[in-house]
Amino acid sequence: MTILLTGAAGYIGSHTAIALAEAGYDVAIVDDFSNSSPEAVRRCEELTGAKMPLFNADVADKAAMRDIFAQVKPGAVMHFAGFKAVGESVAKPLMYYRNNLDTTLTLLECMAEAQVGPFIFSSSATVYGAKAKVPYTEESEIGGCTNPYGWTKFMIEQIASGAAKADPNMSVVLLRYFNPVGAHESGRIGENPTGIPNNLMPYITQVAVGRLPHLNVFGDDYDTPDGTGVRDYIHVVDLARGHVAALRYALEHKGTEVFNLGTGHGVSVLELVHAFEQATGVKVPYKIAPRRPGDLASVYADPSKAQRVLGWKAEKTVQDMCADSWRWQSSNPQGY
Ligand code: UFG
Repeated sequence: MTILLTGAAGYIGSHTAIALAEAGYDVAIVDDFSNSSPEAVRRCEELTGAKMPLFNADVADKAAMRDIFAQVKPGAVMHFAGFKAVGESVAKPLMYYRNNLDTTLTLLECMAEAQVGPFIFSSSATVYGAKAKVPYTEESEIGGCTNPYGWTKFMIEQIASGAAKADPNMSVVLLRYFNPVGAHESGRIGENPTGIPNNLMPYITQVAVGRLPHLNVFGDDYDTPDGTGVRDYIHVVDLARGHVAALRYALEHKGTEVFNLGTGHGVSVLELVHAFEQATGVKVPYKIAPRRPGDLASVYADPSKAQRVLGWKAEKTVQDMCADSWRWQSSNPQGY
């Protein structure tokens, strides 16, 4: 069976393409490379020995997508494509709503036309409102997002589950990612942000490799054990395996199901810095800086539903996350 992946030249999609190929699925990819490189897909093919047909198209282009569906005849779709920078979404809200919603609507319309049922979506822990208490369960309150990026994830969850309610052939799985970090253990693929990274781990690795002078730790006066922000970092290879488990579930069930993909363990900014130094032997100079607007003190998952229903749980350690992120960054200091 061929699985069509949108945006799989990107970070999470490329790791998932490998996990799917290893699990025996055929993979086809559509990406417009607006924030990614075809080299990532070439390396996925090199690592797996699988051919991964790659279509250069905008997922919002209906004619192009119809053509791709006709050629690929997918048995399921995984939707990774989308803009994802929180700060940029505040500056350019219309661009974020237009892109993230249009691509999803076009994709769902093409799925309905081609009668493809299973749809796996890259959602985010950002959909949980500030009122939700950690650890977040799938029942925790959602909404109250603090930026347009988060609202697009929230809205797409509503759109996809509404489509599944109206079409008994559909099977929607919403995967709420916590904080994906790490890289494939080969060091050949990894996270490749354009410009100065927004997220903590790529910032740390770019400081470690000498591209940036020091890390700014955004706040040390939160109500957390060491005062710095706590997050649930999950190894991208564990996350990729979670998609394979979600696909198997979607192939056997109809309707909508939501799963948190996290480890269930909170790690502070300073704990991650120190774990990185220990795992790699490289020092990461840092300075304490003001809090970043919109950040919460502590965010981590209750991942027990994914374990119970999908038989999936995260297995890699924080040490693995640091060592693998560093292997990728140090062997590809300028990215792809
Ligand atoms: N941090 C720093 N310095 C930096 C970058 C981050 O101290 O240079 C801190 C943040 O304040 C936070 C932690 O590191 O405490 C993690 O920050 P990230 O930007 O890596 O991740 P976030 O938890 O803010 O955001 C991530 C994803 C979003 C998603 C959100 C959902 O990047 O896409 O989780 O909870 F919406």
